[in-house]
Amino acid sequence: MTDILIDRSDAVLTITLNRVEKKNSITVAMYAAMADALTAAATDDAIRVVVLQGHETIFSAGNDIGDFMNPSLDTAERPAFRFLRAISTFPKPLVAAVCGPAVGIGTTMLFHCDLVYAGDNAAFSMPFVNLGLCPEAASSYLAPQLMGYGRAAEALLLGEPFLAETALEMGFISRIVPPGEAAALAQRQARKLAAKPLPSLIETKRLMKKGQTAIVAERMAEEGASFSRLLREPAAQAAFGAFMHKHSVSKS
Ligand code: COA
Repeated sequence: MTDILIDRSDAVLTITLNRVEKKNSITVAMYAAMADALTAAATDDAIRVVVLQGHETIFSAGNDIGDFMNPSLDTAERPAFRFLRAISTFPKPLVAAVCGPAVGIGTTMLFHCDLVYAGDNAAFSMPFVNLGLCPEAASSYLAPQLMGYGRAAEALLLGEPFLAETALEMGFISRIVPPGEAAALAQRQARKLAAKPLPSLIETKRLMKKGQTAIVAERMAEEGASFSRLLREPAAQAAFGAFMHKHSVSKS
C-alpha cells in the first residue's frame, strides 16, 4: 500500500508514513501494514534494524478520526492494538526520525523506539482526554516514568503539547537536528547498529527493557479495554463529530 512505504536496504527496513495530505493520520489498513512489517521483521534474519519515519513537516496526526467513528473496528484485535503489541515487543533496535507534529499514537509509539531523532520543528502531544479517550501504548505508565508525574499530568490530563527541547531534556528523544537532516541521521545510526552483532543488540535491548516488559503488556491490555469503551461514549463521538464537521465546513 502506498500510505505506508516499506523499503529494505541491506539489513535496515524503513517504514515510512506516507499520507501527508491527511497529515499522516493512521488508518486501519496502515496499522495492519505496519504490524505485518514489524512482525515479519522480528524473525527475519536478514533484517537487523527498523527505521520508522514520517515527512519533514509532519510525523503523524495520530489515529484517523474517521476510523475512530466506526464502532465495528472496536475489538481487541483492532490492527492498532496489533501494531502496538508488535512495536512494544519488537526485539531488535528501532530508530525513529520525527519532524513536525506527532499527535496521540504519533507520540506514544515513540516510547517504544530505542533511538529517536527529532527535527527542531517536532511537537509532541497526547490529547486523549480532550477527545474523550484515555492513554494507549502503555503511555499511562511510560509517560510518568519518563517525565515525572507532574509533567506527565500536564501532557496526559491537560493534553498540553511539548516541544523537541523538552523531549530531549526528558531523555525521550536522542538528539535534535534540522528537519531536513533527521531522516539521514536515523539511517546513518541504523546502519551503525546493523553492523554490530545482532545477538548482542537483542540481548542488550531485552535487558534494558526487562524491568518494564510485563508491566507494559499488562497496562496496554487494560488501556485497550478502557479506550474501546470510551470510544463509544458520547464525549468521544462528539469530539470526533466536531473534528469532521470543522474539516468538512472549512472545505465548503
Ligand atoms: N484523522 C483524519 N484526518 C485528519 C487527521 C486525523 N487525525 N488529522 C488531520 N487530518 C486531515 C484533515 O481532515 C485535513 O483533511 P482535508 O484537507 O481533507 O480537510 C488534512 O488532514 C489537513 O489537516 P489540517 O488540520 O487542516 O492541518 P493543520 O496543518 O492545520 O493541522 C494537525 C495539523 C496535525 C495539528 C491537525 O490536523 C490535528 O490536530 N489533527 C487531529 C489530531 C488528533 O486529534 N488526532 C487524534 C489523536 S488521538
